Amino acid sequence: MKLHVVFAPGGLTPADVQGRTVLVIDILRATTTMCAALNHGAKAIIPVASTEEALRLAQTIGSADVLLAGEKHCVRIPGFHLGNSPLEMTETAVRGKTLIVTTTNGTKALLAAQGAAAVYATGAANLTLAAEKAREVIEKDGRVLVVCAGRDGAFGLDDAYCAGRLVAAALGSHKARRGLNDAAIASLDLVRRYGDRWERPLTYSRAGRELIRLGFRDDVLDAARLDAYPVLAHFHDRRVTLAPVPV
Ligand code: MLT
Repeated sequence: MKLHVVFAPGGLTPADVQGRTVLVIDILRATTTMCAALNHGAKAIIPVASTEEALRLAQTIGSADVLLAGEKHCVRIPGFHLGNSPLEMTETAVRGKTLIVTTTNGTKALLAAQGAAAVYATGAANLTLAAEKAREVIEKDGRVLVVCAGRDGAFGLDDAYCAGRLVAAALGSHKARRGLNDAAIASLDLVRRYGDRWERPLTYSRAGRELIRLGFRDDVLDAARLDAYPVLAHFHDRRVTLAPVPV
């Protein structure tokens, strides 16, 4: 079994993701927000690298059903329809819409995973479904890579703890550490430390503290809700859409 974790997407090369199923985590907040949007009826989410690219793409598509969303350093981008808060992704706001999204770390991590066998966006919001997917791949002898978006290219406690929860859930009763890389083992140690109380590592992390300082405490608590937005958020062909839920 091969279940690897990377704590930041920085050095990822196309060879690292090729042939693997990649689960991307930016729990505070990009991947949580994407799950919320899909769960509330958004048609698709197109992650892009910059504000300029988002504006260009919106112009090219030229449809009233396209919304611009995102943030830079936790602050909503001026002129965009939506920010990067899961609580903004209400049905009224997003149903039937295509969202073009750019954020500081989360969209970069997703884009870095392009070229993998399959890519999913995950967080606490859809953890059970993502872990089932990971387990299904491992049982078929496939390889799974969990990519934490981290913060400014470095380790983030919030994403790393979430990676540990994902690894633990994917392993299920196979507690053997064979096939795990060191980061996966370290992520399991974080789960041992914080137990199942998501809000602790999330509020202790630098990302969490920064969001709370900026008035987004409710977002941090929302991101800590296990399976709150139970969708398989599949990134394929430049867009994140709903993948069929296994029965
Ligand atoms: C990011 O992509 O860096 C995060 O989603 C930041 C945020 O929550 O504003």
